[in-house]
Amino acid sequence: MTTIPDPPSLIATLPGSFYTDPEIFRREQERLFESMWFCAVRCSDLDGPGAFRTVRVGRESVLVVRDRGGRLRAFLNVCRHRGARLCLEESGEVRRSLQCPYHAWTYDLDGRLIAAPHLGRMPDIDRTAQGLVPVELREWLGYAWLCLADEPPSFEETVVGAAVERLGDAAAIERYRVEDLALGRRVTYDVKANWKLIVENFMECYHCGTIHPELVDVLPEFATGYAAQYYVGHGAAFGEDVKGFTVDGSEGFARLPEVGEDQDRRYYAVTVKPTVFVNLVPDHVILHRMFPLAEDRTVVECDWLYAPDVVESGADLTKSVELFHRVNVQDFEACERTQPSMASRAYRSGGVLVPTEHHISHFHTWLTGRLGGSGT
Ligand code: FES
Ligand code: FE
Repeated sequence: MTTIPDPPSLIATLPGSFYTDPEIFRREQERLFESMWFCAVRCSDLDGPGAFRTVRVGRESVLVVRDRGGRLRAFLNVCRHRGARLCLEESGEVRRSLQCPYHAWTYDLDGRLIAAPHLGRMPDIDRTAQGLVPVELREWLGYAWLCLADEPPSFEETVVGAAVERLGDAAAIERYRVEDLALGRRVTYDVKANWKLIVENFMECYHCGTIHPELVDVLPEFATGYAAQYYVGHGAAFGEDVKGFTVDGSEGFARLPEVGEDQDRRYYAVTVKPTVFVNLVPDHVILHRMFPLAEDRTVVECDWLYAPDVVESGADLTKSVELFHRVNVQDFEACERTQPSMASRAYRSGGVLVPTEHHISHFHTWLTGRLGGSGT
């Protein structure tokens, strides 16, 4: 009789260099952030024609603007004349066109070159060909997702598919109508850690009992350290005495209208690789977008989204926002505590994952596959 040995309790993490090596970060920029769909902007932040925002996608600056027809468009933030950056501001509003401050080449909001000094004396210029370089844009969950790849991967498979894989079907996330929710609060965290430490942390709950007392009070099953959120379709149940997803378990707001009984009093977490976390609770949605800026620095924009009538009523969101804000601060402190050790000789060949963290190794396999090898 043959016996199948139990899998080992401890399996390897990535080596420390994956979190510190600028060359690995450069490959991640090229093969992940500049190749996959990247969640960039909340569409409602650009509320009228001419409203724009600039975002870093991999090594590029991208300009997202609402055109006069109300459509969102994205362009590389580079003047086609001699390459000056068109917009230096993070956000703003132009009246009718985008004008380069260097020699005043002027572009329509659809990207076409419409004016330039002495343009009339250059009749051979093709104004469309000399227009801004467009970037693919899709809207989903009320966000503009951008892709810099010449041939973008299937949005349905790689983005929507992540939610389907986690929740069991697409309807489960659609019921929250995230695209119709209003922004209640936004907090931007400047985290001195590699983006993968933040992803790995989000994927496990081994740390919940140690660093998230408030979260564990609301979601008692998190105290066990088992990442229940990773069983397909499972949402962590609120504790019996808990009235809402708030910092002290007090009442939240009314359940979002299409969220069903089966999703009530439950928390679902979805990771959309490479840089997005979606957290679903009955009365609001919390969405994290990461902007990896360097191998040891990641800006995280976190939005708390509520039914529009809740935000319009001026209701006090403090207790609702405070729960996940504390979770964020606790998580990011842990990541920042970990980052410097990635360069230590003690971590040269990495650390270990315990059984409740083993699923993180799928992320590592996916990552090293995309980067084309596990070494530097
Ligand atoms: Fe923009 Fe010359 S570089 S107008
Ligand atoms: Fe955490």
